Amino acid sequence: MLKGKKILVGITGGIAAYKSATLVRLLIKAGAEVRVLMTQAAKQFVQPLTFATLSKNPVFTDFFNPENGEWHSHVRLAIWADLFIVAPATANTIAKIANGIADNLLLTTCLSARCKIMLAPAMDLDMYSNVATQQNLATLRNRGFLVAEAEDGELASGLSGKGRMAEPEEIFQQALQFLLQKNDFQGKKILITAGPTREKIDPVRFISNYSTGKMGYAIAEEFASRGAEVLLVSGPVQVKACNPNIKVLDVTTAEEMYNACLQNFPNCDGAIMSAAVADFTPETTADCKIKKDGNEMVIKLKPTKDIAKSLGKIKKENQVFVGFALETDHEADNAGKKLESKNFDFIVLNSLKDKGAGFGCDTNKITMFFRNGEVESFPLKQKTEVAKDIADKFLLQLKIKQ
Ligand code: CTP
Repeated sequence: MLKGKKILVGITGGIAAYKSATLVRLLIKAGAEVRVLMTQAAKQFVQPLTFATLSKNPVFTDFFNPENGEWHSHVRLAIWADLFIVAPATANTIAKIANGIADNLLLTTCLSARCKIMLAPAMDLDMYSNVATQQNLATLRNRGFLVAEAEDGELASGLSGKGRMAEPEEIFQQALQFLLQKNDFQGKKILITAGPTREKIDPVRFISNYSTGKMGYAIAEEFASRGAEVLLVSGPVQVKACNPNIKVLDVTTAEEMYNACLQNFPNCDGAIMSAAVADFTPETTADCKIKKDGNEMVIKLKPTKDIAKSLGKIKKENQVFVGFALETDHEADNAGKKLESKNFDFIVLNSLKDKGAGFGCDTNKITMFFRNGEVESFPLKQKTEVAKDIADKFLLQLKIKQ
């Protein structure tokens, strides 16, 4: 299954280190080539010999072999690997990786890695739920790290809760999923819009909305990971694109987003409009800060250009065009109308009435409406999983058209 795949396994100092022996065994049994890196603390839990025997390769712990002075190049290891799994990943190592600290061989290898890094956190429940750890994990997820979620259960401290390292079989499955993932968008160029737009009132104020861009960026990452060349036209957001197949075009206003989309759509195999474009913009933008004078203030707004509608008009037969509808009421009716009026092939509805759906959350609950009248509802999922469903349906449409 994994013949020809090269996997680096990093072991840090936690009691779950003994479970990583099973992980290495599973990887080797599946045909992968495995090399193991251990921190000094990890060696206090399991002997390097265990991993050397299982991986059939010497284990690296120091920059130099103290006996013969041989230099263990973190750069070479980092370039060699197709996947780097850090299991267990302690709170300390996670914090260091998140901050770019490089004070041991495992961390320098992380910093030099060109491949995907998967973390399998393992720690006590309070350390795990601590805001510092959670923020570090969120930062790393945003940078494209894979995280094999810690599990609920009995912990080494005798307490019980979330913090137990995922079982080796689970980490192995997630590694398999990543390593065997499809390249089914190879050669395709996809335009994606994401985030909000900002409509300027004066140099210090703007009109916008609560969009964070998480859904659009998750879609971009999914397409890019499956081989697509992604052009991401993005409003101002905090999230960052990680996959090198994603080219980000930063825009601020609806007008700028419109221009970027109109220019690039004709050369694409399709587009997904997930941006929350402001529908109105001030008729005039003041050059200087508007001062209060004790009276009411009225700002006259004019409609922005409907980007999706414009692209829908120039859409070619072989292009797949997908929209979003964020609704608060009469959801299905509104989504159906937008599907027709903007000439989408399908539209993805999310309702603000659904808990865990919409702006800012990491989850979403969607229903897709297709031109042939088909409707498909999906359960609440992580946005990364929702992105997979959207990409799968997009691919089906592309296959029908091309
Ligand atoms: N859209 C767009 N340009 C706009 C407004 C919306 O490209 N100026 C796109 C969105 O990215 C989304 C779809 O059109 O894919 C529907 O957006 P939505 O905000 O739900 O609907 P609107 O057309 O703006 O209608 P309303 O605000 O009245 O619901």
